[in-house]
Amino acid sequence: MLIHRRGFIAGMAALVAVPRQAGAVAPITDPELARFIAGMPKAEYHVHLEGTLEADMKFALARRNGLKLPFADVAAMKASYDFHDLPSFLKIYYDGMKVLLKEQDFYDLAYAYLVKAASQNVIYAEMFFDPQEHLKRGVPMAAVIGGITRARRDAQAKLGIRSQLILCFVRDLSAESAMAALDAALPFKADLVGVGLDSDEKDNPPEKFRAHFAKARVNGLHVTAHCDVDQVDSLGHIRTVLLDLKADRIDHGGNIVQSPELVAIARQRSIYFTVCPTFSGTLRAGLKEPVDVVRAMLDAGLKVTISSDDPAYMGSEYLNDVLIRAVDRSNLTRDELTMIARNGFEAAWLPEADKSALIARLESYLRSAA
Ligand code: ADE
Ligand code: ZN
Repeated sequence: MLIHRRGFIAGMAALVAVPRQAGAVAPITDPELARFIAGMPKAEYHVHLEGTLEADMKFALARRNGLKLPFADVAAMKASYDFHDLPSFLKIYYDGMKVLLKEQDFYDLAYAYLVKAASQNVIYAEMFFDPQEHLKRGVPMAAVIGGITRARRDAQAKLGIRSQLILCFVRDLSAESAMAALDAALPFKADLVGVGLDSDEKDNPPEKFRAHFAKARVNGLHVTAHCDVDQVDSLGHIRTVLLDLKADRIDHGGNIVQSPELVAIARQRSIYFTVCPTFSGTLRAGLKEPVDVVRAMLDAGLKVTISSDDPAYMGSEYLNDVLIRAVDRSNLTRDELTMIARNGFEAAWLPEADKSALIARLESYLRSAA
């Protein structure tokens, strides 16, 4: 995979300077740590199903759906994953998902992710999907949610991994398109746990979706929103998401450490952050002063969880790899790592008893690994 090592906004003040070379990612070398992480029961909250669409599956789905892709093979496709900021990433991501057309395609996509996640001891996941992009291509909402839901049920029955689904509004499409997607999804609301907000933040502030979030809440859905790192007015977006939309969680959100006032509010409200160091780290690595978003947020006393975001576009590194790299990059202690894992279960949009049962599995593992 080619990655341009440049930052989003060259003039942006760094969050935290760390004594590391820009872009350096250490090889995964500590086998004991890798085993400890691999065996640990984990949760994942920030994974876009369409971002788990691996190149080989794109070719298989294109063949099945009679589509011709503009790449000779998997290697050529992967070589095209050459992005340097959020918009250039999103273009590749949206182009890639055009092979998803039928209910079975969504089943295969979701099941493949759940197989990988279960193989890494992820026992619970809340997964994003971007239905507006599929509706645009004429795919019915029933096929999108139906395929994913069938995969979730099969994965729980066959692999023991529990999961829920979060509908994301694509913020750079119109507010009307997002409302149409929400309306089309509400007949399936029993298959959803929440709504989120993703895609390009520039000129698409969270308040554009105030009515959508309100309607989702009335319908019993939880609310989260992306505040990607170093966007135009990142802090303003975080403020709106916290104070106006009153989101239950924030996806990314690293710039909050620049505002002691917002940090205090997030701590007081026990807001969980779904941090994706591969994504933020990749895109921030070219800044003059390399930064460590995870370290900065932990040191600010925020509730950090760690996720893989769009692993198919990030060197196919799924949660265990992301955690191992985070330990290395952010010098996480074992206590910090287990706190992040515990946060992972405490952040779940599940009944308290179910959450406690998941946490008990983690505690039992930690006792046995001590
Ligand atoms: N869509 C998929 N991944 C995303 C991300 N990390 N930020 C915004 N939109 C996305
Ligand atoms: Zn994301």
